[in-house]
Amino acid sequence: MIRLDERLRCALEMLQGAETVADIGCDHGKLTAALLLEGRCFRVIAGDISPDCLDKTRKKIDRYGLQDRAETRLGSGLTILFPGECDAAAILGMGGELMVELLRASPMVAEGLDSLVLQPMSGIEELRQWLYENSYHVRADRLAAVGSRWYQLLCVQKRGVPDPWPPGFPKDCYLVGYRAFQDREEMLGTYCQVQLKKRYSQLKQAAGTAGEEKLSREADQLESILKEIQGWN
Ligand SMILES: C[S@@+](CC[C@H](N)C(=O)[O-])C[C@H]1O[C@@H](n2cnc3c(N)ncnc32)[C@H](O)[C@@H]1O
Repeated sequence: MIRLDERLRCALEMLQGAETVADIGCDHGKLTAALLLEGRCFRVIAGDISPDCLDKTRKKIDRYGLQDRAETRLGSGLTILFPGECDAAAILGMGGELMVELLRASPMVAEGLDSLVLQPMSGIEELRQWLYENSYHVRADRLAAVGSRWYQLLCVQKRGVPDPWPPGFPKDCYLVGYRAFQDREEMLGTYCQVQLKKRYSQLKQAAGTAGEEKLSREADQLESILKEIQGWN
């Protein structure tokens, strides 16, 4: 069996029930192998832009005898897929700005997916804002902690109109997910506290600089979310 950390485990759960999953940026191939070994889906197409990384996945597929249900393809993002070929895709462990680029480059593929699971390493606000403005409905939004690192994972699907902004959630806040807030994600309060502490510390250094206004707005948004969360119990 493949041992997965909380981040990959969370992605795996979000992909549960799909028929064919694309693992974009597959690298070590853990997600590809675990999806098949745990029977979470029927088939996986694993893609990577790097031949060396793709080779790591290929070796894992061979090691676990998954060749009849897994295929590897070399190329960038969703360009390795035909529209409708997969019902789900995972893009994990890249920057949010790159994820936006990949989605913009392959709208026919991205918009045909029932589940698109995203886990950005940076640029979370840019990614969330782009998804909102392009009418991607957030089906699930979770937090995963691995050691002292936090990860945000979203499962989205293209819709005709943007999601309604939930009552009590600060307008135009993309730091954390409105869906996580709506679902009362159990770690949201802790995550917001960690982020707020970080903003306070950054604000001390940023006094009088161009970054001060943004940090101060973010601190206000996090405080407002925390106030709402306090009222949940
Ligand atoms: C940090 S690894 C993440 C591996 C795995 N998805 C995870 O989250 O554990 C990023 C992977 O994305 C691949 N990658 C970077 N840009 C890519 C692109 N445009 N299309 C496909 N893969 C890409 C890299 O080669 C690398 O294998």
